[in-house]
Amino acid sequence: MTRALPVVADRLWSDLMALADLTEPDKPFTRRAFSPLFLEGRKFLTDRLQAAGLTTRVDAAGNLIGRLEGEEPFAAVIALGSHSDTVQRGGRFDGIAGVVAALEVARVLKERGERLRHTIEVIDCLAEEPTDFGLSCVGSRGLSGALDHHMLAMTNPAGERLDEAIRGVGGDPNHIADAVRSDIIAFLELHIEQGPVLEATGIDIGIVTSIVGIRRIEIIFEGQAAHAGTAPMDLRHDAAVPAAATLLEVRRVADALALEGGGYFVATIGIVQVEPGSSNVVPRRARLVIDARSSDPDTIKRFSNHIDAFSAAVAADFRVDRSRFLILSDGAASDCDPNLRGTLIRASNQLGLRHVDIASGAGHDAAFMSRICPAAMVFVPCLKGMSHTPDEWADKSAIVGGTAVLLEAVLEIDRTNNALPG
Ligand code: HGY
Ligand code: MN
Ligand code: MN
Repeated sequence: MTRALPVVADRLWSDLMALADLTEPDKPFTRRAFSPLFLEGRKFLTDRLQAAGLTTRVDAAGNLIGRLEGEEPFAAVIALGSHSDTVQRGGRFDGIAGVVAALEVARVLKERGERLRHTIEVIDCLAEEPTDFGLSCVGSRGLSGALDHHMLAMTNPAGERLDEAIRGVGGDPNHIADAVRSDIIAFLELHIEQGPVLEATGIDIGIVTSIVGIRRIEIIFEGQAAHAGTAPMDLRHDAAVPAAATLLEVRRVADALALEGGGYFVATIGIVQVEPGSSNVVPRRARLVIDARSSDPDTIKRFSNHIDAFSAAVAADFRVDRSRFLILSDGAASDCDPNLRGTLIRASNQLGLRHVDIASGAGHDAAFMSRICPAAMVFVPCLKGMSHTPDEWADKSAIVGGTAVLLEAVLEIDRTNNALPG
C-alpha cells in the first residue's frame, strides 16, 4: 500500500470481532435477523455510530442508519453499508465486514474534521439473508421500494407476519413508503468475495461488475402418512419420493445449464423437510426450497418452468399432490455503476492495491440499491473462498485495504459529484 489513509486498523478489527462474537453460543456464528442477538448487534452498532458523532435512526423498513451531515444543506447522500444478520452457522465476515468498514470510514472523516459537501450515511440493511419468512434483502427492498404488502404479510413457521417482525426491530411497516429513498447519489458496499478468485490470484481488491439474479422457489408435496411396515409399496402416497426425484432433476438441469455457456447458472436445494419425520411412517408431506441464480433472467425462467412441469408430473407418478409451487422471491441481476467502478479503480491504484473486475455469484443489498442510485461493491479476499460457514475468514490487512478504498472513493465522489437529490 503506497499511501495508507488513516483507517485505524486495530479499532476496525476489534469492532468486527466484537460484533462477530454476538452469536448463538452453541452454533457459531449465528445472529439471525429479528433475534435478540441481532438486536444486541444493533445496539452495539448504534453505540459505535453515536460515539463517532453520527445521529442514528431506524427507518420504516427496519434499516439502522447513521448520518453525518454534509456542509451543503439538502445535498445528496453518499451511503455505505451492508448487513449485520447471518445465515445459520455462518461466518464472522459476511455482511458485518461491510457495516464496520462503513462505520470506520465515517469515524475517520469525523476525526479528520473532514467537512464533506455531501451527507454520509452508514446503513445496516435489515435481513439481507433469507429469513424464516422466506424473503431476503428486506431492508434494501424497503429502501428501493420493492417491499410490497404481500411480502409484509409473509409468515414464518410460528405464524408471525414479517411486518410484525419489522416493527419489532423499530421499523414502521404501516408507513413502509417512508423508507424509499431518492436522495442517495452513490451506494458503496464492502464485502468478502465469498469465492476463491482473489485469494488464488493474490489480488487485493475485486471491483464487482454485476450481481447475480436470484429466484427462490418453494415446492410442497402432499401424500398420505402410512405404517412403514404394513403399507404395500403399490398403494403408498409417499411425499418424499417425488421430492427426491425433483431434487435430483434440479441438479441434473443445473449441471447442464452451467455447462451450456449461456451465462452464469447455479441452483441449490438447501431446505429439504419431510413430515412427520419418523423412520417408521411413510411421509405425508415434503417441502423443498430451491435457490436458482443466473446472470440471465431467461435462463432462470426456463429452469423454473421446467421444474414446475417436472415436479407436477413426478408427483402424479407417485400418486402424490404437488400442492404448492411458489416463487418466494425473484431478484433481478444487476450491474454495478461504471462511474463508481472507475472511482474504486482509481482509489485502489492510489493506494497501491492490485484490483480486478469480478462478477458476484452471491446476492447483496447493493443489487436492490442499484434500483434507486448508482451502486458498486468492493470485494476483499477470504480464506479459500469459504463463506456461510464458521470457517469463513479474512485477514485484517484485507479488510483494512478495502476500507481504505471505500474512504478514498468517498472523498473523490464528494469532490467531483455535483448531483443534487432526485
Ligand atoms: O445468498 C447470498 O448470496 C447472500 O449471501 N445472501
Ligand atoms: Mn450471506
Ligand atoms: Mn452478505
